[in-house]
Amino acid sequence: MPFIDRDFINDLSDRVDIVGLINKRVPLKKAGKDYKACCPFHEEKTPSFTVVPNKQIFHCFGCGESGGAIDFIKKFDHLDFVEAVETVASESGVSVIYDQNVKPVDTRFKRYSELMGEVNDYYQTQLKSSVAKKRAVDYAKGRGISGAIAKRFELGYAPPGWSNLHEHNKADSEKLIDLDTLGMLVAKKDKEGDYYDRFRDRLMFPIHNAKGNVIGFGGRVLSDKDNPKYLNSPETPLFSKSKELYGLYHCRKHSRKIDYILVVEGYMDVIALHQHGITTTVATLGTATTPAHLQTLSRATDTIVFCFDGDKAGRAAAWKALQISLPVMTAGLMIKFLLLPDGEDPDTLIQSESVKAFSRRIEKAQTLSSFLFDHIKSEVPFETIEGKTLFLEQASALINLVTYSVYRQQLVEGLAQVVGQDVSHVEKVVNQSKYSEPPMQDMHQAPPNFDISPMAEMVYDEPVAKKTPDNGMKGLMSKMINCVLNYPVLADDTVELRVRNLPKSNVLLELVHSAQIDDEISQQALIKPFEAKPRVYSRLQQLCVMEPSLSENEAKDEFLSALTLSEKQHQRNLTSASISTASTSADEKKIMEEIQHRKKPKSS
Ligand code: CTP
Ligand code: MN
Repeated sequence: MPFIDRDFINDLSDRVDIVGLINKRVPLKKAGKDYKACCPFHEEKTPSFTVVPNKQIFHCFGCGESGGAIDFIKKFDHLDFVEAVETVASESGVSVIYDQNVKPVDTRFKRYSELMGEVNDYYQTQLKSSVAKKRAVDYAKGRGISGAIAKRFELGYAPPGWSNLHEHNKADSEKLIDLDTLGMLVAKKDKEGDYYDRFRDRLMFPIHNAKGNVIGFGGRVLSDKDNPKYLNSPETPLFSKSKELYGLYHCRKHSRKIDYILVVEGYMDVIALHQHGITTTVATLGTATTPAHLQTLSRATDTIVFCFDGDKAGRAAAWKALQISLPVMTAGLMIKFLLLPDGEDPDTLIQSESVKAFSRRIEKAQTLSSFLFDHIKSEVPFETIEGKTLFLEQASALINLVTYSVYRQQLVEGLAQVVGQDVSHVEKVVNQSKYSEPPMQDMHQAPPNFDISPMAEMVYDEPVAKKTPDNGMKGLMSKMINCVLNYPVLADDTVELRVRNLPKSNVLLELVHSAQIDDEISQQALIKPFEAKPRVYSRLQQLCVMEPSLSENEAKDEFLSALTLSEKQHQRNLTSASISTASTSADEKKIMEEIQHRKKPKSS
């Protein structure tokens, strides 16, 4: 994401006509020096939304929403800050000045993005005019997709044959290389410089980023006899399926208000729901929900409703989503679960029942806490003492994943109610479960100099006696882990060796080790070995998200400087530890002299 020049943002507010900008979206009426309208951010019948042109601000006396032009666009158009600045600037006829020093804009990305746009046009044209188009058009019609919705989602067709997209771009060898990088062509193993089409005879669903640029595709076979049913773009410089959500761009573009976002499993679910007017829907792209997805969603809405099939796989997926949700719960965020009848998905349901009936399901979705307790209850013999004990243990472990204290307390109280015991007692059980995995325990099995105390000790404020001062080591360690989780390719022999010499580096070391074996390893696979340690695991899940997101080179710089700083800090900690443990004043003097000597080797 580009960085925008600070001075530019300051100047922008002087050059914007806030009245014109808002009036385009919410018709304003003049009232004295100011302008008024019914507030777009809450329901009201008499106008209390006011725009004050000489201060370039808006304010609603009803709901308290207020701010400048950028704030308004952010909220009204559901955009992030950079997108909002870009919108305000372009509607005011000003070009954005990006801060080139902070973040050089990589020219590759512009080229890639344009090329994906061309590919998207190509597939859409093929759906209209290829000789083989009839089967694809019939298939789409058979699935009940209207022409308007096909257009909205820019559906296309990759014709049958190995060399359609390839032939179409053959004249430009640079483009072929880019199309390979972008996953649209596949390089032939036996013939250098030759390629074949990745997507053949498939209905194509372009995947857009938040700005509306095409970054990848999903392609569906036209006959259920063929497989795989869906083929998605591989990971490319533009596309990472663990981060993207299908339909988010369309949700923002076609929804007047985003009261909630429904998270479904498939492309067709999103499309069918749009066709029936339910536009605040996104789909994960054939993967489980990730912390990165949740972060994006929680920025776009206050209420996330996870929707899954009611079958065993759907329940398991919902349970996974719950576990990922607990650590990200914050003030104002609501997460709910909607399990559909076995064998149905949103696409089939919305075609067989009324929109009203489906909307009622969304309204009645289960809260996170109730799903949490119900699910564990169904897995244990709750009526027995042993079952209740298991229930308490499992619920406690999960409640401990919640860092938002208000919500944690509510869950503890809810748990007390479910088991019919005192809150204070349950609180004790929950707290005990927090420390039931003592950080020091593992050390007994550890070889010398190989500290495998869980990362918990370095990233959580635990009541564990510290043997050595930390001095920022925790933060540095988190930073390094964050970089490796996002760019496993950073790991090499030298890095591994240096990490090995750092104290309490076991988690990072294991990650670096796995990343070295396979530098294309997914985040989920990287952190999987830690699943058995819930607190470490949940912290690692948080660290999967890079904020702000850095390029590979930037991440490498960050990583190496954190590594060097950690090494220096470790040296300092060792020195002060040896001073404090010096048994005689003579020892202490000797150490001090050594340090002096190190600092000024030449002076005498
Ligand atoms: N998916 C995938 N690869 C597969 C199967 C599924 O990426 N081989 C992803 C797709 O995003 C798909 C979603 O998982 O939309 C859900 O898959 P599934 O439930 O099998 O299919 P439906 O969405 O019901 O697909 P359809 O209705 O087209 O049969
Ligand atoms: Mn389906």
